[in-house]
Amino acid sequence: MSSPHHARPPETSSDDGLRLSGLSKTLGARTIIDDLDLTVHRGELVSLLGPSGCGKTTTLRMIAGFLPPDAGRITMAGRDVTHLGPDKRPSAMVFQNYALWPHMTVAKNVAYPLRLRRLPRAQIAESVDRMLELVNLMHHRDSRPPRISGGEQQRVALARALVQEPDVLLLDEPLSNLDAKLRVKVREDIRELQQRLGITTVIVTHDQEEALSISDRIAVMNAGRIEQFSSPAELYARPATEFVATFLGALNRFEGGFDGTRIVAGTDVVGIRPESVSFTSEPRPGALRASVERVVPHGHFNELRLRREDATLAAYVSGTPPLPGTEGFASVDAALLYRDGLLVPSTEAVSA
Ligand SMILES: Nc1ncnc2c1ncn2[C@@H]1O[C@H](COP(=O)(O)OP(=O)(O)OP(=O)(O)O)[C@@H](O)[C@H]1O
Ligand SMILES: [Mg+2]
Repeated sequence: MSSPHHARPPETSSDDGLRLSGLSKTLGARTIIDDLDLTVHRGELVSLLGPSGCGKTTTLRMIAGFLPPDAGRITMAGRDVTHLGPDKRPSAMVFQNYALWPHMTVAKNVAYPLRLRRLPRAQIAESVDRMLELVNLMHHRDSRPPRISGGEQQRVALARALVQEPDVLLLDEPLSNLDAKLRVKVREDIRELQQRLGITTVIVTHDQEEALSISDRIAVMNAGRIEQFSSPAELYARPATEFVATFLGALNRFEGGFDGTRIVAGTDVVGIRPESVSFTSEPRPGALRASVERVVPHGHFNELRLRREDATLAAYVSGTPPLPGTEGFASVDAALLYRDGLLVPSTEAVSA
């Protein structure tokens, strides 16, 4: 709920694609969304990233107009839409399960929102064809959704949203039904289209790699609040909270302190990215003797589980990995330090 001492963001501007201020929602007896602020610039792609149940879909449904907020305001392109229904907002949503009509052809599915608006037939046909060309589905114009692939269905759902020429495009886990390879292709297609058309876009995902690869900025959510809202690079290099550091990317985590090269006694939490750990056969300044306990292949790189005198450490290495049992030296180039869950700024990770 909004508290009196909580500073509100400045008034909305027409440069904003989308602005949420003080958004709150209680469902049952639980506060699901708690005084949430978020500004998405016009033409920007923002991901809502967070664990299951943190309130991503609830937020998206409020933005789209399917769920009324208990408190707060939603503006699109500077216009207050808080009390408008979904069809009165300049937004379109792609649902997680696509929600296509199985008995209608692909073209009829895409035409549906325009028919609801009672646009002239010729105009509808033209828009539908343009959209189907855009998403490369002209050849499936007259197919029915159950007869086309998951990736194609996903593109139909996207076309049905885009045909409405929304100012704001909302996508709820649009790629979760696709296999790994298709997911990468379709997310690149979505990003390319979104940039070409300059549509303000919010994508809900719990896949960090997906969020990191296509977003201008990512809002990391935890228990109905935004923990951090930053560019992918910033989020990774300087996770503002321990939650963000642990949620995004892998982390060696220790109780203690860090003196620049090694973990020392202390009461903070030290987080070390596996890519900040090196393993060499020759000693280096600050390096400690270590041995390779295990090698875990990750495809294009390997993870070494190293036993050092003060800890077990994961390290990512490229090239041919050393064999388990190899003795050498492990050094730590950078660490993140958290006090009471918040980043201690002087120890921000520097890329090694
Ligand atoms: N109608 C409802 N009544 C009570 N609780 C609800 C209702 N809808 C959602 N919730 C609860 O609100 C919380 C947030 O749900 P939401 O669907 O927004 O999560 P999410 O972040 O999208 O998760 P996921 O990644 O699993 O899709 C969950 O704990 C959910 O059980
Ligand atoms: Mg959800």
